[in-house]
Amino acid sequence: MLPPKPLLFHSSSTTQHHPSFVGFLIILILLFPTLTNADCHHEDQDSLLSFATNFSNLNWSAAIDCCSWGGISCDDKGYRVVGLSIPERGLRGAIPSSLQNLSSLSFLNLSHNFLTGPLPDGLFSSFKNLHTVDLSYNRLSGGLPDTLPSTLRFLNFSSNQFNGIIQTASLQSLQSLITLNISNNSFTGSIPPSICSTSPALVILDFSLNDFSGDIPQGFGACSKLEVFSLGFNSLTGKIPTDINGVLSLRQLSLPGNFLMGEISESIANLTNLRSLVMFGNMLSGSIPRNIGKLSLLEKLELHINRFNGTLPLSLMNCTKLKLLNLRVNSLGGRLSDLDFSNLSQLSIVDLGENQFSGVLPKTLLSCRSLTAIRMATNKLEGEIPPDILELPSLSFLSLSNNTFKNITQALNTLSSHKKLTTLILSLNFYQ
Ligand SMILES: *[C@@H]1O[C@H](CO)[C@@H](O)[C@H](O)[C@H]1NC(C)=O
Ligand SMILES: *[C@@H]1O[C@H](CO)[C@@H](O)[C@H](O)[C@H]1NC(C)=O
Ligand SMILES: *[C@@H]1O[C@H](CO)[C@@H](O)[C@H](O)[C@H]1NC(C)=O
Ligand SMILES: *[C@@H]1O[C@H](CO)[C@@H](O)[C@H](O)[C@H]1NC(C)=O
Ligand SMILES: *[C@@H]1O[C@H](CO)[C@@H](O)[C@H](O)[C@H]1NC(C)=O
Ligand SMILES: *[C@@H]1O[C@H](CO)[C@@H](O)[C@H](O)[C@H]1NC(C)=O
Ligand SMILES: *[C@@H]1O[C@H](CO)[C@@H](O)[C@H](O)[C@H]1NC(C)=O
Ligand SMILES: *[C@@H]1O[C@H](CO)[C@@H](O)[C@H](O)[C@H]1NC(C)=O
Ligand SMILES: *[C@@H]1O[C@H](CO)[C@@H](O)[C@H](O)[C@H]1NC(C)=O
Ligand SMILES: *[C@@H]1O[C@H](CO)[C@@H](O)[C@H](O)[C@H]1NC(C)=O
Ligand SMILES: *[C@@H]1O[C@H](CO)[C@@H](O)[C@H](O)[C@H]1NC(C)=O
Ligand SMILES: *[C@@H]1O[C@H](CO)[C@@H](O)[C@H](O)[C@H]1NC(C)=O
Repeated sequence: MLPPKPLLFHSSSTTQHHPSFVGFLIILILLFPTLTNADCHHEDQDSLLSFATNFSNLNWSAAIDCCSWGGISCDDKGYRVVGLSIPERGLRGAIPSSLQNLSSLSFLNLSHNFLTGPLPDGLFSSFKNLHTVDLSYNRLSGGLPDTLPSTLRFLNFSSNQFNGIIQTASLQSLQSLITLNISNNSFTGSIPPSICSTSPALVILDFSLNDFSGDIPQGFGACSKLEVFSLGFNSLTGKIPTDINGVLSLRQLSLPGNFLMGEISESIANLTNLRSLVMFGNMLSGSIPRNIGKLSLLEKLELHINRFNGTLPLSLMNCTKLKLLNLRVNSLGGRLSDLDFSNLSQLSIVDLGENQFSGVLPKTLLSCRSLTAIRMATNKLEGEIPPDILELPSLSFLSLSNNTFKNITQALNTLSSHKKLTTLILSLNFYQ
C-alpha cells in the first residue's frame, strides 16, 4: 500500500482523500474509542472531588473529565492527574489529606491562598514523581514534614507561619533539590549544616526572615551550583564561614540583619560571578577587602550599619557595574577625592553617610551620570559644592548635611537651577 502523499495534509484545494488513508482513520477510531472521550483516573477524580468539598470556591464538576477542570493538568494520555495549580483562589482552611491520593502528582501550586494549620500527616509519603511544591503565601503552621519525596526539585514554603527546628532527617532524601525557599516563616534552631552534602544541586537557598540562631556552619562550599544564598534577618552569630568563598557560581550573597562579627575575608574576591553582596546590619569589622575590584560584575554592595574601618579600597572603582553602593554608618575614612569614581557609569545610589570621609566632593563622582541619590551626611567633607552637580540629569536626592561645606550663597545659586532635585539637605554646614 502506498503511503498517503504529504500534500494531502497541506493542500486546501484537495477535497478527495486517499481511500486507504480514510480507512486507516476509521480503524483507529474503532480500535480506540476511549481516546476520543477519555476520562481521568477515577481515583484521581475522587481525590479531587473530595479535596473540593473542603473549599466552597472550587467549582469542579463530576460531569466533566477532570483533566479539563480549572487548575488541573494530566499526563499525555489524559489519564493521570500530574499538576494541581490553584493559586490565588481564596482557598481557606486546612489542606485536606485527600490530596495524598493524587499519586501521580508532579506539580503542586497552592500559593497565595489562606490555607492554615499544619500539613496533614504523611502528606508527602505517596507521591512518586512530585518535583515542584509551592505553598508560599499562606498561613500554614507546624514543622517541616518528616519525610519529603526524593524527586523534589523546587520547594517553596516561604511566607507562611511554619515553625520549629529543621530536622536533618527531613532533608536527607532530597538529592535532586534545586530550590529551597523557606523564607519569611518562624523557623528556629540552627541552620542545617549538611544540606549541601545531601542536596549538592541546590541553586537557590533562602532561609531569610526566620529565627535561626547560632553560627553559620561550614559546609556550604559543597553546593557547587549555588547562585543565591540568603540568610538575612535571623539571629545568626559568629563569623562568615570562609568556605562559602569557594562557591564560584554564587551571584547573590545576602546575610543582612544578623549579629555576624569578624571580617570579610579577602578570599571573597574568588566569587567573580557575584552581582549582589548584602551584609548590612551586622557587627562586621576590619576593612573592606582590598581586592574587591575582582568582583567585576557586582551591581549591589550594601555593607551599611557595621563597624568597617580604614579607607575605601582603590580597586572598588573596578566594579564598573555598580548601581548601588551603601556604606552608611561605619567608621570608614580617608580623602574621597583620592578615589576615581569616573568608571562607575551605572552608579545610581551612593550612600556614604555617617563615616569619617574627608576632602572635597570628588568631581569624578559627579561624572557618574546615572546618579539619582547621593548621601554624604555626617562626614568631614569640605569646600564648595561643585557646579558639576548640575550635570547629573537624574539626581533627585542630595544630602550633604553635617559636614563643613562653605559658601551657602554659591551652593544655593548652583543647586537652585537643578531641574530634577526634589530633596536637598544641607543643614549643619556653612559655619562661617
Ligand atoms: C485514598 O485512597 C485510599 C486507599 O487507596 C482510600 O481508602 C481512600 O478512600 C482514598 N481517599 C479519597 C478521598 O479518594
Ligand atoms: C469556575 O470558576 C472559574 C474561576 O473562578 C471560572 O473561570 C469558571 O468559569 C467556573 N466554571 C464553572 C463551570 O462555573
Ligand atoms: C504558583 O502560582 C503563582 C501565582 O500566584 C506564581 O507566581 C508562581 O510562580 C507559581 N509557582 C510555580 C512553582 O510555578
Ligand atoms: C474536609 O471536609 C470533610 C468533610 O466535610 C471533613 O471531614 C474534613 O475534616 C475536612 N478536612 C479538612 C482538612 O478541613
Ligand atoms: C516559589 O518558588 C518557586 C521555585 O523557586 C518559584 O518558581 C515560584 O515562582 C515561587 N512562588 C512564588 C509565588 O513566587
Ligand atoms: C523566597 O520567597 C519570598 C517570598 O515568600 C521572596 O520574596 C523571595 O524573593 C524568594 N527568594 C528567592 C531567592 O527567590
Ligand atoms: C511575609 O509574609 C507575610 C504574610 O504572608 C506577607 O504579607 C509579607 O509580604 C511577606 N514578606 C516578604 C518580604 O515576602
Ligand atoms: C580563594 O582566594 C584565596 C586568595 O584570596 C585563595 O587562597 C583560595 O585558595 C581561593 N579559593 C577558595 C576556595 O577560597
Ligand atoms: C580598625 O579597627 C581595628 C579594631 O577593630 C583596629 O585594630 C585597626 O587598627 C583599625 N584600622 C584602622 C585603619 O583604623
Ligand atoms: C583594575 O583593573 C585593571 C584591569 O583589570 C587592573 O590593571 C588594575 O590593577 C585594577 N585596579 C585595582 C586598583 O585593582
Ligand atoms: C554631626 O556629626 C557629628 C560627628 O561629626 C556627630 O557626632 C553628630 O551626631 C552629627 N549630628 C547629626 C545631627 O547628625
Ligand atoms: C561664594 O561664591 C561666590 C560665587 O558664587 C563668590 O562670588 C563669593 O566670593 C564666594 N564667597 C566666599 C566667602 O568665598
